[in-house]
Amino acid sequence: MLSAAPAAGRSPPVVSTATTLSAGPGVLVGATWVWEAPPVLVHDLPTPALVVDADALDRNVARMAEVRPGRALRPHVKAFKSTALARLLDDAGHRAFCAATPRELVGLARAGVGDDLLLANEVLDAGRLAELAAATADGVRVTVAVDSVETVEAAATAGLGSVLVDVDVGCFRCGCDPADAGRLAELARDRGLEVRGVMGYEGHLMLDPDDTRPDRVESAMALLRSAHEAVGGDVVSGGGTGTWQDNTWVTELQAGSYLLMDTTYAARGLPFEQALSLHLTVVSASARGWVVADGGLKALGMDRGNPSADDLDVLYCSDEHTTLVRHDGGPPLPRVGGRVRLRPAHVDPTVAYHEVLHVARGDEIVDTWPVDLRGW
Ligand SMILES: Cc1ncc(COP(=O)(O)O)c(C=O)c1O
Repeated sequence: MLSAAPAAGRSPPVVSTATTLSAGPGVLVGATWVWEAPPVLVHDLPTPALVVDADALDRNVARMAEVRPGRALRPHVKAFKSTALARLLDDAGHRAFCAATPRELVGLARAGVGDDLLLANEVLDAGRLAELAAATADGVRVTVAVDSVETVEAAATAGLGSVLVDVDVGCFRCGCDPADAGRLAELARDRGLEVRGVMGYEGHLMLDPDDTRPDRVESAMALLRSAHEAVGGDVVSGGGTGTWQDNTWVTELQAGSYLLMDTTYAARGLPFEQALSLHLTVVSASARGWVVADGGLKALGMDRGNPSADDLDVLYCSDEHTTLVRHDGGPPLPRVGGRVRLRPAHVDPTVAYHEVLHVARGDEIVDTWPVDLRGW
């Protein structure tokens, strides 16, 4: 059950459902974050706090939609895991979504966001697939990726209506041999499934240098196109933020990171802004030349390295702390009680650590979006 945030000055509602999580001066009730007293400014947020710059996000949405409007984009929910952000994309005309987990799609289906939902991942769990099939309302299409006899069988058994044949285009991850795609499509049709086409994710090329990437994307997509000839169907799905301009072969681009961005993609010089930051409080200062802020590995995806800090250098992150030193020629270190803003190196795992995204315009908090699509 959803409950609205209380008006200022009123007592918070008593919450006793099993879906309630408690974290500081607010609670997550179903898919709604309920504050005891909503903070007004970014500086008032309890830390660690993940903050979305709403203006930058709006510009990212618009920039991508110029090139990939409507169904030419199938935004990937894994990058933000929030029904509220997905709804914003739905309002901007993107009604097809893709996801990495059944949980992400079940959440969207139950919230009535999107009308064409793709599980762009191989899932064998009969219970989760059946839950996904059951969550789907009339007028909403659910499609799952298959790359083996077993995944075709799992989709058919769960009562899911349609599939895309997932093709290995060189990423060393899921996907069948392109030469096997036609056989799998036939098998799926024999099991009563609609085969809508193919997908193939060239994830290994997202950070490839500018001088080699276009040709390598073309070669990867040649594999997908050959599979598509054997499979049939209208859909050729693939690509991501890193190949948003190179990949002109897919009928729908599966980008997700472009919305909030991270320092890894920013280093590629893409025209999307970093809309996500982690706000911390300095809790300790050493006379030996460093300060310690109150969030680290458990608040940041670190597989792509350290986060970056405004005007400071990150020495290292540990479980609950980030140690920062003065940047050469930069301002003095903040005092105990001061705030630090970090830019994560990898958006997807960073968001997955948090219960809410605080939405800010300038310094003002204008909304709080639960990260309600976490889990599997
Ligand atoms: C299958 C698939 N498609 C698309 C994407 C989105 O890529 P990006 O993060 O570059 O937007 C991912 C990300 O890992 C993915 O796994």
